[in-house]
Amino acid sequence: MKKKIIIGSDHGGYELKEILIKRLQEASYEVDDAGCFNGESVHYPEIAKVVASQISNGEFQQGILVCGTGIGMSIAANRFNGVRATLCHDHFTARMSREHNNSNVLVLGGRVTGDEVAEDILEVWLNTDFQGGRHSTRIGMFDELTK
Ligand code: RB5
Repeated sequence: MKKKIIIGSDHGGYELKEILIKRLQEASYEVDDAGCFNGESVHYPEIAKVVASQISNGEFQQGILVCGTGIGMSIAANRFNGVRATLCHDHFTARMSREHNNSNVLVLGGRVTGDEVAEDILEVWLNTDFQGGRHSTRIGMFDELTK
């Protein structure tokens, strides 16, 4: 069975989103595109909501969000229970976001990160496992913070 993933962007991340969708399809992922669907200006929290809510409710295990910097999408997505959205800039942050933080939403900045670096980040993020152990204890503490 194909692995499924949901991806969304605002106008600042639209072009990179299209590139990433192609890469995901080549890697045999079933990709749900939450928009936006052209370069016209949209409000990134609305797109973050579509993706993060479906990670939070278990419909998807993995998601990707892209805006201009990756910052707004990160702030918005991390408001949803169970979402661990991580803004990654390079190979190292991509690897650590999976090994230590068990990232379930990869966030990228379309105006910050070059296309090829972004593709490298995607590949590492998709193929790196969570290390568990002490990191499970730590990420388990996130839910306590908002109680
Ligand atoms: C849109 O201009 C820009 O603010 C957005 O893409 C993002 O960078 C927000 O954090």
